Amino acid sequence: MKIKILALSGSLREGSSNNTILKLISGLVPDHVEFTLYKGLASIPAFDDIDNDPVTQFRQLVREADGVLICTPEYAFGVPGALKNALDWTVSTGDFDQKPVALITASSVGDKGHASLLNTLTALGTNTVEEVTLLISFIRAKLKNGQFVDNQTEQAVLRVVYALISIIENKQAK
Ligand SMILES: Cc1cc2nc3c(=O)[nH]c(=O)nc-3n(C[C@H](O)[C@H](O)[C@H](O)COP(=O)(O)O)c2cc1C
Repeated sequence: MKIKILALSGSLREGSSNNTILKLISGLVPDHVEFTLYKGLASIPAFDDIDNDPVTQFRQLVREADGVLICTPEYAFGVPGALKNALDWTVSTGDFDQKPVALITASSVGDKGHASLLNTLTALGTNTVEEVTLLISFIRAKLKNGQFVDNQTEQAVLRVVYALISIIENKQAK
């Protein structure tokens, strides 16, 4: 059976660097990995504790995933609101509890958003070890025409992806 990885982008922007990274990863994962880019972030309403279809579907995708890969910019020294809002909807249901989750922050600088999102993942109880976290600053200089132009960055991204796959496989072997 294939390993299921759900990818979440913190950017809803057309031509986003973070979406570009996720698309590049989707072309690089091994055959036994099913890599799904979640596209429903913009349809998730602001948290109010009243269940609705987009949230039910989002939670189900998280529950069914063997692992989650988040790739996000930093906005105003924090986590982009749409992404944080979606994660807030999962606090009470525990969908992320013990879930292997990797975090790539790709931004102009990004350190504050990265640290903040790591705190949120702690609150959600995810399994997020250092090997699956990566901060990429100056992201716009590292991509051109939808490709990595910085080999070190590409290798670092691949290391995160393979570390996530390895954590999932070790968990399944237990
Ligand atoms: C609303 C907004 C706020 C931003 N705030 C920050 C910030 O606080 N720190 C930072 O490193 N970059 C910030 N940026 C720049 C983003 O890092 C940069 O635009 C990045 O390419 C966005 O990711 P994306 O291309 O995937 O959309 C901001 C961009 C926007 C649109």
